[in-house]
Amino acid sequence: MPPLFRALTPADLDAMVALEQAAHLAPWSREQLAESLHGRYFSGALWQQEQLLGFFIADAVIDESTLMNICIAPLWQGQGLGRRLLEHWLEECRQRRLAMAWLEVRASNQTALALYRTAGFAKAGRRKDYYRAGEGREDAIVMQKPL
Ligand SMILES: CC(C)(COP(=O)(O)OP(=O)(O)OC[C@H]1O[C@@H](n2cnc3c(N)ncnc32)[C@H](O)[C@@H]1OP(=O)(O)O)[C@@H](O)C(=O)NCCC(=O)NCCS
Repeated sequence: MPPLFRALTPADLDAMVALEQAAHLAPWSREQLAESLHGRYFSGALWQQEQLLGFFIADAVIDESTLMNICIAPLWQGQGLGRRLLEHWLEECRQRRLAMAWLEVRASNQTALALYRTAGFAKAGRRKDYYRAGEGREDAIVMQKPL
């Protein structure tokens, strides 16, 4: 069975927390993940049967969307699933008739930067010392893509 898209629901929270902690340097808390399933946020996830392989969370404000979170389970990385998730977000943005997609990424995250660049995102700015990184701080690269 190939991985398929299915929306996230509050019943998926345990799986989201586990994946978030396995994939991210600075994972969101359970409360942050729970909040992201409501309000101005929308999300999408890739599943193989009942196994959560990856998900994205984005917001939609007026005619713009910002990608708040995207992650693929470590064992499933490097197989094209991150790109499928990113394209799924962009397609949903177009269906919602949004005009601009935004995201932020750690300056050291070469994998994500390569993914975003090849998906047509361009650098729009840099936030100095935006992320915590070990004992220090790290810049964020802000990227945008017209839809
Ligand atoms: C970033 C992430 C979502 C990408 O998902 P993925 O499934 O591993 O990526 P894909 O297999 O779809 O690859 C997409 C592109 O990423 C880049 N990429 C993938 N693996 C890479 C690696 N090891 N080194 C450098 N670039 C890499 C390539 O540009 C690749 O495109 P290509 O295969 O056409 O060359 C995933 O690695 C992840 O969850 N990382 C941890 C969480 C994270 O950093 N999220 C992003 C925060 S902004």
